[in-house]
Amino acid sequence: MQPANIILGDLKKSKKLFKNGHYKIIFDQPYHLYLDKSQSQAYITMIEADKFSSLLHDPTLNLIEKYKHKILKGFTGKLSFYDLGPGMPTKTIPLLKQLQETGVPFDYFPVDVSENFLNITEKEINKIGITCHRINSLFEDLPKVIVNDKNEEKLFFIGLTFNNYRPDKILKLLKQLAGNDGTCLIITEYFKKKNIETILLPYRDKYAEYFNYLSLKLAGIEQEQLSYFTEFRNQRIEMGFRVLEDLQLAPDLVIEKDTEIITAISYRYSKNNLIKHINKYFSCFEFFEHNEKDISLASFKFSN
Ligand SMILES: C[S@@+](CC[C@H](N)C(=O)[O-])C[C@H]1O[C@@H](n2cnc3c(N)ncnc32)[C@H](O)[C@@H]1O
Repeated sequence: MQPANIILGDLKKSKKLFKNGHYKIIFDQPYHLYLDKSQSQAYITMIEADKFSSLLHDPTLNLIEKYKHKILKGFTGKLSFYDLGPGMPTKTIPLLKQLQETGVPFDYFPVDVSENFLNITEKEINKIGITCHRINSLFEDLPKVIVNDKNEEKLFFIGLTFNNYRPDKILKLLKQLAGNDGTCLIITEYFKKKNIETILLPYRDKYAEYFNYLSLKLAGIEQEQLSYFTEFRNQRIEMGFRVLEDLQLAPDLVIEKDTEIITAISYRYSKNNLIKHINKYFSCFEFFEHNEKDISLASFKFSN
């Protein structure tokens, strides 16, 4: 299906009337942000921009560098490394190099809805002498795609994208993928009240606004017809737009003035809350924490 049709269909399905008499469209499936090449290009511009890179991207790389040997130390046999949404893939490379250095045999499977990100990943990963077994698929469809080989260990790495999902949805999917023997690895930024302004900063600039706007551009909406907002509510950062005039997007789809459209969410859990969610689905977990200025990050590794 064409990206525009996917977006229009999901906008239609998600439109709800709220008590205050305004419509709200909670339109936060992460893949909406990566259906088209222009979106992956805008993502790259956003994470290279000063605030995103200094307040989120670089500290995450520091976390991985600091703990990569501990994170990967349990793997010894043949490993299938599934990288859910590798993006650039700056955070994956240190982990794969660590496996190379310690002589762990592995196959690398980047999984991404975006062909552009798969192309970038393949190019970068080939540079360190690793072959990519690319899977151009939604994470949600991966259980149908992967082959079960009892002789291989499996690692599912989703990085910060974990936070773009509602907790039960992503943990249920990871449990389905990992089964009884697989291991999952996520990265998260903790919620700490004193850090709230720092947490919001990377999402409050023109790069984040444009990146969020692009999914609505695919539906034929002009940027001038929208006003961007970023707020912390419901334990997550909510990004989206207020609609400034009535929009007729299809014969059966009108979006009224003052409708709020949420285009992305990014959860910020407290440590206890995240542990509570993980424990609902997985019995064993380890975590690795890294603090830098007002940024408090952790990587959780879990399995059954
Ligand atoms: C936010 S980027 C994260 C990149 C990197 N893992 C990191 O932590 O910086 C999200 C990546 O996941 C992919 N992605 C998002 N939702 C997806 C989905 N439902 N199915 C497949 N790929 C998806 C995007 O195309 C992109 O490569």
